[in-house]
Amino acid sequence: MCGIVGYMGNHDAMPVIMSGLKMLEYRGYDSAGICTIDAGAVEIRRSSGKLINLEQLIKDKPLSGTIGIGHTRWATHGKPTVANAHPHKGGGVVIVHNGIIENYLTLKDELITKGHEFTSETDSEVVSHLIDEHLKTSESLEEAVQQALKHLKGAYALCILSQKDDKTLIAAKLGSPMVIGIKGDEYFVASDMPAIISHTREIVVMEDGEMAIFRNGGVKFCTTDGSEITKASRFVDWSPLKAEKNGYPNFMLKEINEQPQAVRNVIAGRLLEEIGDVYLEGMNADDSKLNTFERICLVACGTSWHAALVGKYLIEEQCRIPVDVEIASEFRYRDPLVSAKTLVIPVSQSGETADTLAALREARGKDAYIVSICNVVDSSIARESDGVIYTHAGLEIGVASTKAFVTQLVALYLLTIRLGRANGTIDLAKGQQMIVALGELPELVKKTLELDPQIEEIACEYLTSCDAIYLGRGISYPIALEGALKLKEISYIHADGYPAGEMKHGPIALIDRDMPVFVLAPNDRHLVKVRSNMEEVITRGGKVIALCSEGDSETGRRANFTLTVPWAGELLNPVLYSVALQLLAYNFAILKGKNVDQPRNLAKSVTVE
Ligand code: G6P
Repeated sequence: MCGIVGYMGNHDAMPVIMSGLKMLEYRGYDSAGICTIDAGAVEIRRSSGKLINLEQLIKDKPLSGTIGIGHTRWATHGKPTVANAHPHKGGGVVIVHNGIIENYLTLKDELITKGHEFTSETDSEVVSHLIDEHLKTSESLEEAVQQALKHLKGAYALCILSQKDDKTLIAAKLGSPMVIGIKGDEYFVASDMPAIISHTREIVVMEDGEMAIFRNGGVKFCTTDGSEITKASRFVDWSPLKAEKNGYPNFMLKEINEQPQAVRNVIAGRLLEEIGDVYLEGMNADDSKLNTFERICLVACGTSWHAALVGKYLIEEQCRIPVDVEIASEFRYRDPLVSAKTLVIPVSQSGETADTLAALREARGKDAYIVSICNVVDSSIARESDGVIYTHAGLEIGVASTKAFVTQLVALYLLTIRLGRANGTIDLAKGQQMIVALGELPELVKKTLELDPQIEEIACEYLTSCDAIYLGRGISYPIALEGALKLKEISYIHADGYPAGEMKHGPIALIDRDMPVFVLAPNDRHLVKVRSNMEEVITRGGKVIALCSEGDSETGRRANFTLTVPWAGELLNPVLYSVALQLLAYNFAILKGKNVDQPRNLAKSVTVE
């Protein structure tokens, strides 16, 4: 996984590529590199760590030329060192790669016997050597690339340059995203549109098995087996959102604080209070279509999977439709039971997660109807779905998802109303009541944010803990999972979430006086049982931090710390508890001096399996 950029035109390639990489840093920031060719001279700069290191290197050793490629890496094969950073050079061929070459070891062995010398541990380097090898017997770089691609197994989005043919840039795609921007005789290649649309709105979306050859101010599109094709460009009318911290010390805190507005955005124009229903503009399924579905299958990864779990509680209980929640990377490999009577809902902030996209395609192959819940407009998952419910959270830069998660919860709540109204399980009064509750949510989110000073106190108290447990029941259980994930992601404290009633079947063995246990205890139908689970922890000397509802002075009495969270109703409480747990993870991480926006080893969008 990674971000790639390519440029050919009449301007300096370096600033175009560097600004493109900046926009793609969400895809990985383990190392970065750039290559330009100027009058036949190949210049490469690479550095480990964040893009800022490469920027510094380029300041000291600038490069010139109007053709170039760049890369920001999320390491899969090989440590994030300079040697493993892209671009990779094999003979006179230089490449940047996003994806995984699954048969690279076999290819590498073959190439070594032919005299190629490798300098990295990556799977990607093999591509440059393989093309270089084929150049020996091909008439052009284009032909050599086509020959080489035949041998690759796995996924790739590639930009390729050659010292011998220094006026040509080639791009090829299979399984990893790629878009091309056109501005007169200037061409831009990138993993994603934000890297391009500050230069041009004319975009060509590349499909699997396609190549683009840029030469002499023109472009030729063909399939990877050489047949020429015509590709239509389209104009993108959305603007690249600016990543500004607006006075906040980091993006994560800014995004946490943007949540009242994010909730307003996801519901804006969608509430039809009079008829107790919602309007989901891009869903493309009317009542009769919705009522054909016998099952719903939510597929997602990471934080989005936790939102999907909340979706199951909402939809099954309110709409009485069976819902399965699948981890996308598992779903795609087990011949899932999906048919034309299944509504498949991929949930994804980025809309580019490789496993979720592959799950969507698996479902498509089984004739399912697909309505995705996405934040990024025009993303691959949104484009490939029959309908889409955008979450309108706005640009999310912090790698650990916050406002995107909360808006996914709200989108699932909206979907629940729509499904329930369509099949009659939610009547007018209930629909209206659900909508009224939603209207009050932004203010309650704001109120929850005001808990920050108390939450900071909790983080200070338990800062030296090595582990933490999060407990919740019912609809709060997925939020316990998400709270634990957030803590792991940004503070590197090991944490696990459990259904509170399950604790006695194993995790209880971990309880001692050093173990903080965060208990999600809203005043809902599970509270009595949750209190008993709290007692089990207290009896064994564990430290309980109880997240209770306003007006409940009883539950927290025996806890070490009580945090009083506002009440939004049983179905919307998960939103408020998520906000409180985001602040908790944030405070832990900041007090520990961690980089909350770019935690180690993570990436915002994971485009490899
Ligand atoms: C990565 C991110 C997570 C995110 C997950 C799924 O692992 O670090 O924050 O939840 O991908 O991403 P998606 O864009 O599909 O929601």
